[in-house]
Amino acid sequence: MKGQSAERIQSLFPVLLASLLVLGTAQLVFDSLKSAKSYVFQYYGKPEKLRKSVFVSPEDRMDESCNLFEGQWIWDNVSYPLYEENSCPYLVKQTTCLKNGRPDSFYQNWRWQPRACNLPRFDPLKLLDILRDKRLMFIGDSVQRAQFESMVCLVQSVIPKGKKSFKRDPPRKIFKAKEYNATIEYYWAPFIVESISDHATNHTVLKRLVNLDSISKHGKSWEGVDVLVFESYVWWMYRPQINATYGSMEDVQEYNVTTAYRIAMETWRNWLESTINPHLQKVFFMSMSPTHLWSWEWKPGSRGNCFNESYPIQGSYWGTGSNLAIMEILHEVLQDLKINVTFLNITQLSEYRKDAHTTVFGERRGKLLTKEQRADPLNFADCIHWCLPGVPDTWNEILYAYLLQSYQNFL
Ligand SMILES: *[C@@H]1O[C@H](CO)[C@@H](O)[C@H](O)[C@H]1NC(C)=O
Ligand SMILES: *[C@@H]1O[C@H](CO)[C@@H](O)[C@H](O)[C@H]1NC(C)=O
Ligand SMILES: *[C@@H]1O[C@H](CO)[C@@H](O)[C@H](O)[C@H]1NC(C)=O
Ligand SMILES: *[C@@H]1O[C@H](CO)[C@@H](O)[C@H](O)[C@H]1NC(C)=O
Ligand SMILES: *[C@@H]1O[C@H](CO)[C@@H](O)[C@H](O)[C@H]1NC(C)=O
Ligand SMILES: *[C@@H]1O[C@H](CO)[C@@H](O)[C@H](O)[C@H]1NC(C)=O
Ligand SMILES: *[C@@H]1O[C@H](CO)[C@@H](O)[C@H](O)[C@H]1NC(C)=O
Ligand SMILES: *[C@@H]1O[C@H](CO)[C@@H](O)[C@H](O)[C@H]1NC(C)=O
Repeated sequence: MKGQSAERIQSLFPVLLASLLVLGTAQLVFDSLKSAKSYVFQYYGKPEKLRKSVFVSPEDRMDESCNLFEGQWIWDNVSYPLYEENSCPYLVKQTTCLKNGRPDSFYQNWRWQPRACNLPRFDPLKLLDILRDKRLMFIGDSVQRAQFESMVCLVQSVIPKGKKSFKRDPPRKIFKAKEYNATIEYYWAPFIVESISDHATNHTVLKRLVNLDSISKHGKSWEGVDVLVFESYVWWMYRPQINATYGSMEDVQEYNVTTAYRIAMETWRNWLESTINPHLQKVFFMSMSPTHLWSWEWKPGSRGNCFNESYPIQGSYWGTGSNLAIMEILHEVLQDLKINVTFLNITQLSEYRKDAHTTVFGERRGKLLTKEQRADPLNFADCIHWCLPGVPDTWNEILYAYLLQSYQNFL
């Protein structure tokens, strides 16, 4: 973890990022969960529609000083997974590992246990109460898309057929809970700022060109969204340098990735500061999602990757794929912000989960792997994306915990 110099950028792309957006059809079960012993609190909505109730039980309340990102994974095959892979019609093929042939399902049965407190139990109806008349939007790459899908799956089972909808409107995907007038949305923007990879389905993977000072085209679609959740990392980490423009679109130059990342984040910061109303909107930023491309990092002497891993890493671990220079840039940019952005630092907790990637049970360039490719995990295992149900559910449990705290009134 220490000896990693700022210049060292690992190339994270032996596997091409699959990018096909697929959409399923709806099936559902109604299942009311409102707890009789809940306390009623008020939450802050838009001023014109204040005073809607969110039920917050004593177990939901967190000590604000508790660090949710420090803790361990506990085996819990009673409460986990929080939904079944085949009960959520909105999952894309890229994440449905069991259906794609993964033989073990242990990766679904781990619960994240923070050291100093408990995560509140995820209650879809409470989340819908919070999101009433609101929009929650996830913005980023395919890793972020999995978090969006996870959130939809966590929520959708409590909504009866006909009262929910799902549509693709590239670069957006939109899930709507009609009775709540609540939407959970996804917006494809792998670099957050604009780039030649912005087409949601037909984007270049090998050729990258980022417009470091351009964000307004995307930003238009983000304006007024009540809860924004950003993420951008893995697309930057292809080579130590990246082609980018700043100022003139014609003036393409090679930038060090760290330099380019900082400029892009500053563009994003300026957009936030000029656009966000901190009284009405909440902004989150997800830290980098770790990769497990080289098994020698947790099993010295081995020469594989995340394929055939069935258990989380025990003890301290930080892979070289999670670039600390990028982490430091985020730290600095967020520190300077004039509005509050909550940084969800999920990197460390996800680092332990070498067992939870899609490996050969996912897609490559929009297609499931062939039998021959599956037989060659050294070349074809995907150690970037995660199976669902899985690790992104935990990211959402943490996001939910924060939302629950910020939309309740402690008076
Ligand atoms: C880019 O990185 C190289 C080493 O990887 C370093 O020598 C150089 O100073 C960096 N340039 C800038 C502008 O940061
Ligand atoms: C849950 O895990 C325990 C301990 O590994 C095991 O004995 C039990 O059979 C498992 N239960 C189910 C339903 O898989
Ligand atoms: C539904 O939600 C949208 C987006 O949050 C909001 O603009 C609109 O006013 C809401 N509609 C009603 C009828 O409250
Ligand atoms: C994808 O984009 C490329 C370059 O912009 C274009 O030439 C190609 O026709 C597009 N393919 C599809 C299927 O839209
Ligand atoms: C930048 O673009 C040029 C021209 O297309 C290409 O030769 C070069 O390899 C690119 N640099 C990087 C870091 O991708
Ligand atoms: C997977 O792991 C098991 C036990 O750890 C081992 O016996 C088996 O040979 C491994 N399979 C491959 C393809 O590496
Ligand atoms: C995120 O967590 C890691 C590991 O716990 C830590 O090293 C890093 O400094 C944290 N990042 C920020 C920006 O706080
Ligand atoms: C940011 O959050 C802190 C702590 O919750 C609060 O004290 C502060 O006033 C907030 N700042 C802004 C600009 O909203």
